[in-house]
Amino acid sequence: MAPTAFVAPFVPSTAVFKGDLFKGKVLFCTGGGSGICRGMTEAMMRHGASATIVGRKYERLTQAAAELSKATGQKCLPVAGDVRQPKTLQDAVAKTIEVFGRIDFVICGAAGNFLAPIDGLSENAFRTVIEIDTLGTFHTIKATLPHLRASKGAYIHVSATLHYKGTPYQAHVSAAKAAVDALSAVLAVEEGPHGVRSNVIAPGPIAGTEGMDRLEGKSADARQMMLPLGRMGVVGDVANATVFLFSPAAAYITGQVLAVEGGTEHLRSLV
Ligand code: HXC
Repeated sequence: MAPTAFVAPFVPSTAVFKGDLFKGKVLFCTGGGSGICRGMTEAMMRHGASATIVGRKYERLTQAAAELSKATGQKCLPVAGDVRQPKTLQDAVAKTIEVFGRIDFVICGAAGNFLAPIDGLSENAFRTVIEIDTLGTFHTIKATLPHLRASKGAYIHVSATLHYKGTPYQAHVSAAKAAVDALSAVLAVEEGPHGVRSNVIAPGPIAGTEGMDRLEGKSADARQMMLPLGRMGVVGDVANATVFLFSPAAAYITGQVLAVEGGTEHLRSLV
């Protein structure tokens, strides 16, 4: 099969959804100081939401908050802290309520990752990623849930696709993300009756991220064939999915995993 010339266009959510879609709403995002979660936050702010971003690196966080506010005209509150500490989340939620008065949407996005074979993973290395990704998600849910019940809000958990199969050197992350997917499903069924939705976004190959840099050695043709829609994803693709899942257009969608991966998970290598 020869690679096709088709390349999926990228269209920002602002060209599709109303600019004031989330006016008066408040987003709480862990990991929002950089990468995919920063892009998700920016998209929500471009549609009128205010946001709190939580992360470990205070300087990066405050700079991100200033840049996000400048780019979108919306308020962004940076709160430094580690999602492994429940108190961090409780304090960040308290500050958010103090400043914005409500929380409508939560992105559980803080994550840790490095490449290591099981043989090279210490107990602490494995535990560290479980604590950031899985326990961090749990702590975020616990701290925000009363406010999401009050606002009839929604969660998006940022997971991955790597745990659907055996991805080498990712035992710790695979275990952590599988648990995140499970947590979201339980949250969806338990909290549906309270008007709270919970979904997962599973980013696939997203350009400009650390994981994707490892694909750079592949030939152009081989790479094209690995990408059914002709290109890698961009952060904006994940941001678009975020806007949709938080919008009222997704009011009947909960407990789902939306993989933003351009069809790559369905490709089976012949060798
Ligand atoms: C083996 C490693 C290691 C490595 C750290 N450890 N890096 N073991 N190989 N490359 C071990 C350490 O030796 C230590 O165990 C334990 O992990 C904890 O390390 P610390 O550095 O003390 O932890 P900490 O400072 O809390 O840092 C957390 C971290 C770090 C996860 C280890 O890498 C981090 O915070 N990275 C930034 C966040 C990040 O990478 N985000 C991207 C997420 S992307 P010992 O036994 O020595 O005490 C994502 C999507 C996945 O999640 C998609 C990929 C394709």
